[in-house]
Amino acid sequence: MTSNAVAFAPGRANLIGEHTDYNQGLALPFAISEGVTVRARTLPEPRIDAVAVDLGKRDSFSLDAVARAVGWRAFVRGAAAELMGAGASLSGAELEISGTVPRGAGLSSSAALEVALVFALLAISDAPAFDRLDLARMCSRIENDWVGAQTGLLDQISSLFGERDRALRIDFRSLDVRPVPLELDGCKLVTLDSGEHHSIAVSGYNERRAECARACAELGVCSLREVSLSDVGELPALLRKRVTHVVTENARVEHAVAALERRDFDELGRLIGASHASLRDCYEVSTPAVEDAVLRLKRAGALGARIVGGGFGGHVLGLLPADARVPEEAVEVRPGDGARVTDA
Ligand code: GLA
Repeated sequence: MTSNAVAFAPGRANLIGEHTDYNQGLALPFAISEGVTVRARTLPEPRIDAVAVDLGKRDSFSLDAVARAVGWRAFVRGAAAELMGAGASLSGAELEISGTVPRGAGLSSSAALEVALVFALLAISDAPAFDRLDLARMCSRIENDWVGAQTGLLDQISSLFGERDRALRIDFRSLDVRPVPLELDGCKLVTLDSGEHHSIAVSGYNERRAECARACAELGVCSLREVSLSDVGELPALLRKRVTHVVTENARVEHAVAALERRDFDELGRLIGASHASLRDCYEVSTPAVEDAVLRLKRAGALGARIVGGGFGGHVLGLLPADARVPEEAVEVRPGDGARVTDA
């Protein structure tokens, strides 16, 4: 415990395995080097004074009874309340928040914010030791219960467990997290902004999640992980499409891990492209602007390109062969380390 701390938590990209986390499925994300930094300094009073530097906004609230708020303030209040709810005796604090992950881009600025807040508050407080999976669950509660997005654990686990030069094969049924070397022999992973940042992203996301729950109820299973393609015929057309995406996406994650092991980048690109087609046609989370961004990466020679994150806008991810040039406005992303307290 110290009176000053600086915590950093990264955003993430997801190689493959989209909308599988809340269906107890598989995904293959990696932490990126962009992220959120929270500088914390203890205050003598039981109060949090927070500044969101990039937004030029402030918040102040008492730790004695944490009142709800919206927008970025919901994250700060949720982080403090959830930590106290989990047994941490929080010190009052001044928090300065700044970030380099574009917001609403599908690169998980939200999880980076949650995780950095929790790390910073823990570093200056008297708290029990939490393991990283507990922290991932706690951060997900901040998002579910304080922010109102019914997201799964993909982003939080990526931010907490990220490793340099490795992707993470996550099994959301067992919560087994296995680092997989992301050695690309000169191929590059790039992201490109579709330019679209929709407010329907949260409602569209929550709707997809509800549709999966409905499909489970109709099939009498606890999660879509228990379902195979031969079961989907029993479902109404819309749910059949959603379930087909989830079941085939889980299989694509396993194939992608194998392709990476073999260094078969043509196959990896094909799987990334198939994931996108399924997200567009079966899960219906693409938009014209996203399609345009995918096309731009393909024209630049991408072996495969796809939407990342929740969908309805945001960034696309492309796998470029070693001899291709990174197109203008695209940014190369490399797997980096997970969340940490960087300084005191
Ligand atoms: C968002 C959510 C994640 C995950 C992805 C889709 O990023 O926060 O939990 O569901 O969408 O794969």
